[in-house]
This record gives sequence, C-alpha cells and structure tokens, in this order.
Amino acid sequence: MNEFQNVHVLPKTAYLSYLHTKIREKSASQQTFNTYSNQVIRQLLIHAAELLQFNDKGVITPIGDIYQGYDLKTGVCGVSVIRAGESMEPEYNNMFPGSPVGKILIQRDKVSKLPSYYYSHFPADIDKRSVFLFEPMLATGGSLIKAIETLLENNVSEQQIIVVNFLASPEGLDHVVTQFPNLKIVTSSIEEGMNEHAYMKPGIGDFGDRYFGTYSK
Ligand code: URA
Repeated sequence: MNEFQNVHVLPKTAYLSYLHTKIREKSASQQTFNTYSNQVIRQLLIHAAELLQFNDKGVITPIGDIYQGYDLKTGVCGVSVIRAGESMEPEYNNMFPGSPVGKILIQRDKVSKLPSYYYSHFPADIDKRSVFLFEPMLATGGSLIKAIETLLENNVSEQQIIVVNFLASPEGLDHVVTQFPNLKIVTSSIEEGMNEHAYMKPGIGDFGDRYFGTYSK
C-alpha cells in the first residue's frame, strides 16, 4: 500500500531489489543496465496489463475440450515519451505483437527547466484503445503532465491511460495525481525525493543516457 490512490507499486520482492541493485550501481555497464532494467520493464508491463479490461472467451483445445479464458476488451496502444520511454517498446512489442506505438516529444528548457511540447503522432483510433504511456522517470512530473494533456487533446480519457513508470518521486506523483485523479500509474519504486538538479534520490541517474549509452563528459 502507498498513500497515492491509483498508484500501483510492484511488490518489493528480493528479486526486484536484486534487479534494482544491479541497475542503480554507478559502475554498471550499459549492457548490465539494459539487461536488468528490461526485466523490471517486463514486470511493470505485466502489472499494467492486469489493469486492462477483459471479456470472457472460450477456446477449443487440441483434445476437443473448452478452455474458458479471456480476451482483451479493447485494443492497446503504447505511447513513448521520447527518449527514455522508448526503452519500454521492445517488451511491449513482445507482449502485444502488432499493436501500435505512438510518440510524444517533450523537452525541458535548459534554463527555465520548464517542459515544452514539440511533436506527437498517434494512430487514428487511439481514443478507442487502452493507452500505456511509457515514461520511466517521474521526477517533477512536468513532462508527464504535458504528455497526458497531449493525449487528452486527442480524445483519450484519463481513465484510458496507464502510466508505465520505473521510478517516481513523491513530489512528482503528488503533482500528477492531484491534477489527474483517475489516471493509473504502475511504478517499481517511489523514491526518497529529488536533489537540487531534479534527479531522484537514491535514484538511477539519467535513465535515457544509461539505457542508450549516450554519456556526456
Ligand atoms: N530523469 C532521469 O533520467 N533521472 C532522474 O532521476 C530524473 C529525471
């Protein structure tokens, strides 16, 4: 349990902590970082999938019996907040083969630190789908709020959106859920807070740079 309604935190199992330990270590190579973060991403996506709606569906098994199971009620659409969000696309493609992926580009101004919208592209029927919004780092919440506003402008309702998030700060979560109380968020950790550069503590560093190997000096 946590203090935020509609925020689902993965159970802190020993194996999840082991994955976090591998990923958070400063000296982890890009390969180590990606191998272990992909496993956390898989857990996040499985948890997010459990929040979808399903219809009953029976199938005939090879021995002629009926298996009573489920089918998805609506299609899904992944939406990546460029660039870190794109790290979630390979596991999403494995789980939902053939499902569309939209993109949103939001960048923080280097001086004002405020997020600005640059670009988005979605499938025409996104308003009829459940949307997984891929935003691994929720620090101040500013970029995520802009991304959600962009989806709402494209007729996606708050209830249709499940944010798939790796790490979140309590301040950022508060900011986002106050503005969008019906949004669902799945995360693998709520951090202690942020430092003066808006990096989460203890955190993971710059997720995009570590995942894509674009370290600056
Ligand atoms: N973005 C990151 O990549 N890491 C943080 O800690 C905060 C924002």
